Amino acid sequence: MNFELKAMGLTGVSTEKCDALIVLVPQDFKPGKDDLSTLIAQTLKAGDLETKAGKTLCLYRPVQAHATRVVLVGIGAGAARDVRGSVMSAVAAVKSSTLKKLLVCFAAPAREDAVRAVVTAVADASYAYTTTKSKPEGRTLSKVLVAATNATEVQASFNRATGIVVGAELTKEWANRPANHATPTLLAQAAQELAQHPKITCDVLGPKEVAKLGMGAFMAVAQGSDQPLRFIVLKYNGAAKTKAPTVLVGKGITFDCGGISIKPAAEMDEMKYDMSGAASVLGVFRSLAALKPAINVVGLIAACENLVSGSAVKPGDVVTSMSGQTIEILNTDAEGRLVLCDALTYAERFKPAAVVDIATLTGACVIALGGVRSGLFAAKEELGNALFKAGETAQDGCWRMPLDEEYAEGLKTNFADVANLGGRAGGAIAAAKFLQRFTEKFAWAHLDIAGTAWKSGAAKGATGRPVGLLVEYLMDQAQTK
Ligand code: BES
Ligand code: MN
Ligand code: ZN
Repeated sequence: MNFELKAMGLTGVSTEKCDALIVLVPQDFKPGKDDLSTLIAQTLKAGDLETKAGKTLCLYRPVQAHATRVVLVGIGAGAARDVRGSVMSAVAAVKSSTLKKLLVCFAAPAREDAVRAVVTAVADASYAYTTTKSKPEGRTLSKVLVAATNATEVQASFNRATGIVVGAELTKEWANRPANHATPTLLAQAAQELAQHPKITCDVLGPKEVAKLGMGAFMAVAQGSDQPLRFIVLKYNGAAKTKAPTVLVGKGITFDCGGISIKPAAEMDEMKYDMSGAASVLGVFRSLAALKPAINVVGLIAACENLVSGSAVKPGDVVTSMSGQTIEILNTDAEGRLVLCDALTYAERFKPAAVVDIATLTGACVIALGGVRSGLFAAKEELGNALFKAGETAQDGCWRMPLDEEYAEGLKTNFADVANLGGRAGGAIAAAKFLQRFTEKFAWAHLDIAGTAWKSGAAKGATGRPVGLLVEYLMDQAQTK
């Protein structure tokens, strides 16, 4: 899907040929002298169109435009949230197999956040997963023109948003694939394909190399599965070698049945999404390939399955992590922190400017924040604030959670340096406290995306989050240095 921004108002738009035209009408709409403006003014006057966000009026081949279908949609005061919702419903109204070229036009000067909202909402509303369908009904939309009179003012935001969309779509693709079509080996291949882009390299480690590194915690999770684990090292080199990289660490559990501490059957299929953190790292690298910022980024993915078998790790087993710390595995379903802790220790070798791990880590985070905001844990104010701000700008929000030492109390055990389980209360924080033990050598933040990475129910599917937040944060790094 190709996005283009054009400096054009309602007059220009009316002569542009397209399958569908969406006109975003704000509450303070001031009609110009053109025919389309007059038409909009008439519909408003007649009360057939309301400028309240999300209200639509559909027209077919009106003489005032060269579009087959026209949707007038209210956007209220033009806030990003409203624009997003309005564009989602307008696209739903014109979505069909004949929709190839779409034109979205601002009927008043566009705000930067609204332009971003248009781009991401058109992508989300037109996305279609097809990989494992025998008769794929994929996206037919191939060209999206966004028209605004103040195009030059909003060009940078537009470019950022389209760069994020290509990455988020790769994330959706890999997160949505079922576990038998997204094994650790296949994830590693996807990462290797990213290395075809300039400035990106990829190394993949298998069981032997990982054993040599002493990643006992990661290996313990993988040992119950027939699928060999993969440790993926992606590098984006956009700046001088001397510049410290930001390291992203993704949880890549391609299926999490809980292990011996097995999960209940209901909705267990959704645990194919337990590699969404890893998929978001792949997505960020795809965005970096598109946006080419002058920064260095390392992406680490610990990928394996968490299954049950005669060789699976057992509750009570004690393993030695790469850091040397011993861990008592009290619950084999708390596996994310086990694969992440070894990846975090591995990150030390890059002398990173910052390390951010991304993981569908705890059901407790879903209870705490629902599907709206990801959980953000950061020991350092500066990093926490920067990530929070990036989330707001990218419309991919997160919310700061605490890291008081008291929350680590439940992780104490008589049989190892630390247990992989705290109490049920404050479970998302206990998990973060476990990870924090492995992050002493760098500035660290943790994003728990258990609630935000995918949607359940009829609209079940990956969201592509938090690619927007992460890319925004990284692009800020390129500008501030
Ligand atoms: N992948 C799950 C977390 C999860 C659960 C994400 C539901 C999204 C929806 C993780 O590996 C897990 O099982 N966590 C346990 C931890 C517990 C055993 C301490 C959980 O949250 O129940
Ligand atoms: Mn689990
Ligand atoms: Zn898991």
